[in-house]
This record gives sequence, structure tokens and C-alpha cells, in this order.
Amino acid sequence: MCGIFTYYGHKNTAPELVIEGLKKLEYRGYDSWGIAYKTNDEIEIRKEIGKIGDIKVKDLDLKHSNIAIGHSRWATHGGVNKKNAHPHFTEEKDIALVHNGIFENYVEIKKYLEKKGHTFKSDTDTEVIAHLIEEHAKTHEFEDAVKLATQEIEGRYAIVVLNSSNETMIAARKGSPLILGVGHTEGEYFIASDIPAFLKYTNKVIYLDDNQMTVIKDGEAKFYDMEKHEEIEKRIVEIDWDEESAEMGDFAHFMIKEITEQKETLARAINQDPKIIEKVAKAIESAKGTYFVGCGTAGKVGMVGEYLFAKIAKKHTNFAFGSEFSNYKDFLTKDTLMICISQSGETADTLEAIEVAKEKGVKIVSIVNVETSTMARMSDIVVPIKAGPEKAVASTKATTSQLAILTLLAYACDGGVKKGQQELINAAGQINDMLNPRYEEHIMKIAEKIKEVESMYIIGRGANYPMALEAAIKLQEVSYIHAEGFAGGELKHGPIALITENTPVIALVANDDSKKEIISNATEIKARGGYIIGVAPENDDIFDFWIRVPDTQAVSPIVNIIPVQILAYQLAVLRKNDPDKPRNLAKSVTVK
Ligand code: AGP
Repeated sequence: MCGIFTYYGHKNTAPELVIEGLKKLEYRGYDSWGIAYKTNDEIEIRKEIGKIGDIKVKDLDLKHSNIAIGHSRWATHGGVNKKNAHPHFTEEKDIALVHNGIFENYVEIKKYLEKKGHTFKSDTDTEVIAHLIEEHAKTHEFEDAVKLATQEIEGRYAIVVLNSSNETMIAARKGSPLILGVGHTEGEYFIASDIPAFLKYTNKVIYLDDNQMTVIKDGEAKFYDMEKHEEIEKRIVEIDWDEESAEMGDFAHFMIKEITEQKETLARAINQDPKIIEKVAKAIESAKGTYFVGCGTAGKVGMVGEYLFAKIAKKHTNFAFGSEFSNYKDFLTKDTLMICISQSGETADTLEAIEVAKEKGVKIVSIVNVETSTMARMSDIVVPIKAGPEKAVASTKATTSQLAILTLLAYACDGGVKKGQQELINAAGQINDMLNPRYEEHIMKIAEKIKEVESMYIIGRGANYPMALEAAIKLQEVSYIHAEGFAGGELKHGPIALITENTPVIALVANDDSKKEIISNATEIKARGGYIIGVAPENDDIFDFWIRVPDTQAVSPIVNIIPVQILAYQLAVLRKNDPDKPRNLAKSVTVK
């Protein structure tokens, strides 16, 4: 949530660089944006409402500067307007600050600062941090003032502070991501919420951990542990992502690019180091209680995990959303295993769940895309899904890769990791054949037909029930059509009252023992006027429209969600929504 990008170096185009960097982070927040940069003797601030992607740098009339900070916002405290957009600054305008996260005790600190004579222009928690630093700077060196302020902040945050009087940039984090890019020329540094933002300039990165701070001054970056109050050494890591994989190429949007990439990303997920899969399988075998934990789409993947383990490994497991996990804390012991699923590895609700679990000595496994994320670094075992950067807010390729890993794990617990791999390889081959323009054109026919509907429903049974919930998320977040997923058998207990003439209902069908029943549920809906869109390996008389998927048995959650991803994308485009940056959302949700 919220994108931070900053530049410190020799180039005198820092404001332009920061704007370009922010454009690449826009998926993290796009209500408003702003930059602050140092000119001769003061800080220039520029803030605007709306998406930074629409901005042409040459129209902005920016001055030269070699040090700048920037932010694209996903509003938490205070509405979307210029005064609440970041950067925030102090009365003297010599300290400017950008912030990602939530500062929970800001009201009391604001009152304390008001008594001291500070006045505030915005409704944000962020502006309070800038003033708190200013207050401490009256009696302390600037670096110590930042340290003291961060110690008083409660909550999760990533901040970057620019001080124009001594040309210093300071970044600190606790719970929200912040990565330092080390430029190819000496004394050049980038700071960003996510690596792809500066990949064009460098692949050398330093990860800030919680309670760490970097002070960039006199062309040098120094690192500090804010709890131990000591200077620390940090390792430079070379990232092997190429810039191209983080760019859109010839595609109209990241979402369709990432849907199409699933041919390759699935293959990468399947070709996991079998040792990691077996290590996790052993941990599951020996655990007394396994919990899958995730949020949103990753949560739905965790729910599929429960079904896969019941069916393939004949093993009972549990699922909880990150935000609900603490309700189970009394059942956690050092023999419990927690398997966290996340694309970003930065989702605050899941990170908090890990903190709860760690207090009880629970062993943590994470299935993540960003291998160097906070979640990965908090885990005992990391299973990287290797999907490459996922930029569209709607998760697609990461979802199917996570499903592939859970399928492998379920087979590994049944002693058959090779069998799992083979089933997945077969499915991936068929998905490769399926993802072609003709398939998309076929789905477009149904998108055209239903593009004006107000509501639609998705049904599934077994592992396709959580996939029906996931299908609903996909349709909601990008098409803005009211969509709800149900277990096929549940409709007759209430929701069937919502079905009227031509209400579209997608039935996710697997060619297994649930097939007869889901078809019978679809028949009940059709009898009430529903328009049935069957996502199934075989056509059925009951379908008004059939979207063919390969017959893949245990892999059906993966193959069934792909056509719905395409449909959601097409509906978004037809309804003139931005599929990559849907309203009110952000890619990684780093607030509770
Ligand atoms: C997916 O389409 C969503 N945008 C969202 O539900 C997402 O899956 C959720 O916020 C969890 O994110 P994570 O995978 O990065 O933890």
C-alpha cells in the first residue's frame, strides 16, 4: 500500500527519475502522488490528485535537483486531496517525509505537538511524524531525531525523510517494505517499496529489515540497528530479474500479460527443488496441526489446500485468513505448523498472524513470490513460487503457481511428489494449448453478452468451491460487477432466491465425483431462469455457454480459474475500467 521511490546521487534530474520510478510503483496506490526535491536552498514540493501514470514529466516544469523523494498514495488517514497527499513537511519546509503504513498512536502525539506550538495542514498520521522529527531535532542531531521519532511510533511503517539543510536522506522501516538500490556509480542510491521500480538502473539491492535505518549523507549509505543503537553491515544482493519481465511489452495491460505468462510460470513452480517440497512434507507429517494462512486470493488458495490435503494426502489441515488467525492462538504449540501463502510476502494481516504464531513457537513455512520479502525472512522454510514480478493488482499467475505448490505438497505427503509433478506437467502442457487468441475470442463472446449485468454468481464443489470464491474476487475487483461465489450445494439454502431471468451463473466443473452434483446444482439454477456458463472439460445440455478446460482431475482448480481470469479482464476492458489499477485497491495490503 503506497509506493515510495527516492533518488540520491549525481544526476541532476532526480525529480524526473522519481516520477518515472513512482509510475512503476503505481500498482501499490494511486489516489494521489507527490514529490519533494532539494533545490539550492529549499525543498520544492509538488502534489497532485489522481494517477501518476497519466502525468507527462515535461509538462511539470521541474527544476534541477540531485536528491528527491516521492510517493504514490493509497489513502488511510484523511481523504483523497492535495493536502493529504505525501510528501508532508514541517513549517520551515526543511524536512519532508514520505510514509507507507499506519502510525497508530498519532492522535496523542499530535496533541502533544500542538501544545508545543506545531500546527498541522493535513489530516494524516504522516505529517505528525515530520513534526515529531522536527521537535526532536531541536535538541538532537538530525539522525538521532529520526531514531527517537521512530521509537515513539506505534504501528507498521516505512519512511524516507529528506533534510535539505544537511542534504541527508534517511530511511527506516518496521513492517512495511523498503529496499535500497545501489547505483552503478559511486554515491548513487535509490530507495523503493519494490525492486522493479529501480531495476532499470541497478540490480544490486540491500534489504532493510525491521527496526533498521539507513542514513545517506556525503555520498555514502550507513546502516543502523535502531533497537541496539549500533551501526551494522548490510549485504548487497544481486537480483536476477530482468527489467523486461517487469514491463508490459506488447500487451495492453499487465493483467493479460500475467494471465498469458501462466504457461511458463506454472512450469517454473512445478520444477521446484524436490528437496524443499519433501522438507515441507516432512514438517507437515510430523506437525500436530497444520494451518494454511493467507488473505484475499492467497487465502482462497489456502482454502483449496485444505481440500487437496483431504483428498490427495488424506490429511486434516486447517485454514484461517490472516486477519482471523489470532482466534486460534490457544490451539498453537511448538508442534504446530503454519503455512503462509502470499504473493508479495508483505501483507500486514498475514505478517501479524506470523507474529502471533511465533510467540507460541510455531514453525513457519511461507509459499511466496517475493523471496526476499518480510514474510520469507520471518519463515523457517521458504518455498519460492518463482512467478516473476506480478504487477497487476489482481493476482493471476501467482495464484496458479501457489496452487501448483500446494498440489505438489499434497502429493508429497502421500509419498508421490513425482506423481504430483507429472499431473501438473500434463496440465501445464494443456494450459499452454488453451491460452491462445481463439480461446480469448470465445470468452469475449460471453463477456460481450454479460457486460451490463448487475450481479453474477459462481458455484463450485470440493476444491472448486474456494475457486468459486476466488473467481468472485477476480470479477469484483476488476469488472466492478457484483459477483459472489458459493458452494454448489448451498444455493438452495438461501442464495437461490437471488436468481432471476438470465442471471449469469458460472459453474466450475471438475471431472471427478463432484461432477454429477454440480451439474444438478446448475440445473436447479437453470430451472429458475439462470443463464449457465459452464467451465468444464465436457459440454453439457444444461450449459447455455460452454468454456472448455482440459480434463485434469486434481489440477482442476488451476485450469478452471484461468478462463475466469480472462473473463474478468475482458469485462474490465469492455466496461472501461483499468484492470491493472482497480479503484480503491492496492497491490500489497500493508495495513491491518
Ligand atoms: C488478489 O487479486 C487481490 N488483489 C488480493 O486479494 C491479494 O491476493 C491479497 O491482498 C493478498 O496479497 P498477497 O498475496 O501479496 O499476500
